[in-house]
Amino acid sequence: MSDRTVLITGAARGIGLATAKRFLAEGWRTGLLDIDGKTQNAAVEALDRPDDVLALTCDVAIEDQVASAFEAVRDRFGRLDALINNAGVAIFKPILETTLAEWSRVLDVNLTGPFLCSRQAVPLMTNGGAIVNIASISGQRASTLRVAYGTSKAALMHLTKQQAAEFAHRGIRANCIAPGPVDTAMAKAVHSPEIRADYHDAIPLARYGLEEEVAEAVWFLCSDKASYITGQTLAVDGGFEATGIGLVSLRRSLGE
Ligand SMILES: NC(=O)c1ccc[n+]([C@@H]2O[C@H](COP(=O)([O-])OP(=O)(O)OC[C@H]3O[C@@H](n4cnc5c(N)ncnc54)[C@H](O)[C@@H]3O)[C@@H](O)[C@H]2O)c1
Repeated sequence: MSDRTVLITGAARGIGLATAKRFLAEGWRTGLLDIDGKTQNAAVEALDRPDDVLALTCDVAIEDQVASAFEAVRDRFGRLDALINNAGVAIFKPILETTLAEWSRVLDVNLTGPFLCSRQAVPLMTNGGAIVNIASISGQRASTLRVAYGTSKAALMHLTKQQAAEFAHRGIRANCIAPGPVDTAMAKAVHSPEIRADYHDAIPLARYGLEEEVAEAVWFLCSDKASYITGQTLAVDGGFEATGIGLVSLRRSLGE
C-alpha cells in the first residue's frame, strides 16, 4: 500500500467511480466526493476498502462545503498527490430556452467547482502532484443544445492551462481530458436514440467509450510516466475530434 492519495469528485458512479477503482488498484488511498451521498455510500460499500477509502458528501460549487471536504482529506490522509475534477452536470437546451439559473448552475458545477477544489488541493500537494480536469468534446467543438455545457468545458480547458502555468513551480502538473460519448447515467439522460446513432456514425471507432478507458487516461496523466506533460488536453474520444465533415461516407466505403 502506497501513501499516495487521490481525491476524485463526482465519484459516486460513472467515470469518477471507474477512476477511483483504477487508483485503488494501484494501491493509492482514495477520497471519493459526490453531492449524491446515498449513491456514493452504496458504491463505497461495494468497493469494500474501508482502510483506503474516504467518502465525502459535498457540492463542489459551494465554497464552504469544499473547504470542509478538503479539511477531512487532510485530517484522514495528511497529504494529496492527485485531484481529479470530474463532477459535472449537463443540461442540453437551445440558447434561447436556457434560463439564467440553468446556465449558472452548469457553470458553477463544471467550472467554478474545479476552481474551488483546486485551490483547496494545491496546499495539500506538498510533494508535488497532478490535477486532471474532465472536460468534454463539447468544449472542443460547438454543437447544438450545449451552450452552457460546452462553454463550461471550453473554459475548463483554459483553466487547466492557467493551473499548469501557475502550479508548475510547485511540482504540480495540470492536464485535461476531453472524453467523447461514454455510456454513463449522464449520457443515458441526455442522449436520445437519434443522438446515439449519430455518434456511432460520426466517430471513427464507431462506438461509445468505456468508463474504464477514460479512467486509464486519467491514471496515465497522474502517473510518473507523464512527468513532462502539463497544460494539455487529451481527447479520449474514438477519433471524434480528429475528424470532420464528409468522413462518414468515406469511412463506410472503406469498410465495404
Ligand atoms: N458520459 C459522457 O458521455 C461524457 C462525455 C464527456 C465528458 N463527460 C464528463 O465526465 C464527467 C463524469 O461524467 P459521467 O458521465 O460519469 O456522469 P455521471 O452523471 O454518471 O456522474 C457525475 C457524478 O457527478 C456528481 N455531481 C454532479 N454535480 C455535483 C456537484 N455539484 N458536486 C459534487 N458532485 C456532483 C453526480 O452526483 C454524479 O455522481 C463529467 O464532468 C462529464 O461532463 C461525460
